[in-house]
Amino acid sequence: MRSGWIEGVALRGLHFLDAENAHRVTVLALKAGLISGGNTSADPRLTSSFWDLEFPNPLGMAAGFDKNAEVPDALLNLGFGFTEVGSVTPRPQPGNPRPRVFRLPVDEGVINRYGFNNDGHTAMRKRLLSRKRNDGIVGINVGANKDASDRIADYVAGITEFADMASYFTVNISSPNTPGLRDLQARSALADLLQAVVSARDLCADKAERRVPLLLKIAPDVVDEDLKDIVEEVLEKSLDGLIVSNTTVGRDELAGTGPHQETGGLSGRPLFRKSTAVLARARKLAGPDLPIVGVGGIDSAETAWTKITAGADLLQLYSSLVFKGPALIGEILSGLADNLDHYGYASLREARDLNVDVWASEEI
Ligand SMILES: Cc1cc2nc3c(=O)[nH]c(=O)nc-3n(C[C@H](O)[C@H](O)[C@H](O)COP(=O)(O)O)c2cc1C
Repeated sequence: MRSGWIEGVALRGLHFLDAENAHRVTVLALKAGLISGGNTSADPRLTSSFWDLEFPNPLGMAAGFDKNAEVPDALLNLGFGFTEVGSVTPRPQPGNPRPRVFRLPVDEGVINRYGFNNDGHTAMRKRLLSRKRNDGIVGINVGANKDASDRIADYVAGITEFADMASYFTVNISSPNTPGLRDLQARSALADLLQAVVSARDLCADKAERRVPLLLKIAPDVVDEDLKDIVEEVLEKSLDGLIVSNTTVGRDELAGTGPHQETGGLSGRPLFRKSTAVLARARKLAGPDLPIVGVGGIDSAETAWTKITAGADLLQLYSSLVFKGPALIGEILSGLADNLDHYGYASLREARDLNVDVWASEEI
């Protein structure tokens, strides 16, 4: 789908399908090489390095699109600087009954209650081993089975299973669709979890020939006191970064009618303000050195730039692709480079935090 016109027609065609079938068709089209990018040679000023990884550009595909690692290379080829597969749980699980994902076209939002449907560790490992490319940054987002008797053990199992193939790990304790999962954000539970995943990562350092960076992905629905506890634990346990944020259970910012009261996590444009405010608060609590990935409602170069000025080092998106298609990736990257020209900055790092105070004081 090289021409914008064909892409537009295809996107409208997909919207005749229900959201889950449209997603499946898109993954199959990516697999078949029917969707290709895009801006793969972004401006060199957009490159950055975090941990032991060189990011060709700051924009990543967020978790949940490629839950089973079917298309990491196709996503990188679209122009993303990195991609995150999962969430993956030790054993395969079917997730919640359908329908479980809903588009909100007026609001440009998505509600999902998939509930970690995925093929499990063994299938994902096999797929990642069969990748044709062995370059490109592919993070692995690990979760816990719904019926796990010991959730922490499930995260540890994910780290042990994939330490030799993950560019980085995301520990996802913020999905609203697995009952009780977000309780792991409470301080004492979080301390135990982080201790366990850091130890597991360190134990695998020989096999992996590196200490795989460990990031924690948090919900936007945390009150300030809880956020402070979370960031303190992250710093105390020397985690490598934060991802802010997952979907919200809030419904405050919706204008349209339709399935907007469906249970699940809301993402896309209506999540932008809240997730950006939490990002800025997290940046202020964490200080300048902790890498933070900003995600939630990025749908343009302007919203991507805003995340950076609110404290993000790297960016991810998902929902806006549903409404705008893959041409958005190139648009965001060239818009970021234009902003560097406009303000006379040599890198995005110079723009980071410029509006962090304003965003941190945003009421949520
Ligand atoms: C359909 C769907 C499925 C998702 N599945 C996951 C998941 O399995 N694990 C996870 O950490 N986040 C998941 N997310 C959350 C996204 O990674 C992202 O944090 C959130 O959607 C906010 O970004 P956006 O507004 O750009 O979509 C999912 C989001 C959507 C829309």
